[in-house]
Amino acid sequence: MTSSPENPGTSDAPDASDGPPRLTRLAFHGPLSEARAQRLVGRLAANEPRTVLDLGCGWGELMLRVLEAAPHATGVGVDLRAEDLDRGRANAAARGLGDRVVFAEESATDTARGPADLVLCLGASHALSDAAPPETTHKALHALRRLVNPGGRVVLGEGFWQRTPTDEELAAMWPDAGADEHLSLGDLVDAAIGAGFRPQWVETASPEEWEEFESGYRSDVEEWLAAHPGHPLAAETRERVDTQRSTWLRGYRHVLGITYLTLVPVG
Ligand SMILES: C[S@@+](CC[C@H](N)C(=O)[O-])C[C@H]1O[C@@H](n2cnc3c(N)ncnc32)[C@H](O)[C@@H]1O
Repeated sequence: MTSSPENPGTSDAPDASDGPPRLTRLAFHGPLSEARAQRLVGRLAANEPRTVLDLGCGWGELMLRVLEAAPHATGVGVDLRAEDLDRGRANAAARGLGDRVVFAEESATDTARGPADLVLCLGASHALSDAAPPETTHKALHALRRLVNPGGRVVLGEGFWQRTPTDEELAAMWPDAGADEHLSLGDLVDAAIGAGFRPQWVETASPEEWEEFESGYRSDVEEWLAAHPGHPLAAETRERVDTQRSTWLRGYRHVLGITYLTLVPVG
């Protein structure tokens, strides 16, 4: 599996209970601000979905907010990571949503779930097929088209190149990063149209949202490292976060974008 900011792959922290914390400062596992989330939820709830499917949901924060705003809706979140699913279940219970949502530990690849009125796939298109990038995006769009009910909505949070990366930037990104790995925003929207959608809304994460996400991704670990310099996991943790930060600052910062496409199925 390719490692990238929306697809951290094997670069996440080890799960040692006394080890470094993991993603505790993030509301969403991606560059998504509170303000943008609020606008998205309002727009999606206005379509009055009764069923929500969140593929590669993590802890499913956006799905939970949609369920709060659409009181007749039920939700299913699918992910492989038990720890994040537990976080989603706990958040759902704390907000009185426990009986309206299921967090299922299973693969989203060729899922038998759905169709649903609202399908979310945020930073997780790689979860929908075994294809390599950029085919991942096309496969995901066709899977999402199959999984959404007529009149429903899909929100795809997907990476795109803001400009063609230089060789130097590619060398500083994740292993085997390639210029053909992502589409441009124009080509990505065209691909969505080609898969049977009209783009209701096209928006992209701002530099500030990226900095909030990238800093929030590691800030709890950085504080832990400063407080536990002699911990048995300190050396490998330091190396991991230093590599992550360098990948961002020397590699994909201002080059990789994330778009949130709200898509209406047609045809
Ligand atoms: C960048 S995170 C995004 C999480 C969530 N959608 C969000 O925006 O907060 C990508 C998620 O995809 C999940 N994932 C990767 N492969 C998967 C698969 N085959 N089936 C289900 N989930 C998968 C990962 O465990 C991870 O939680």
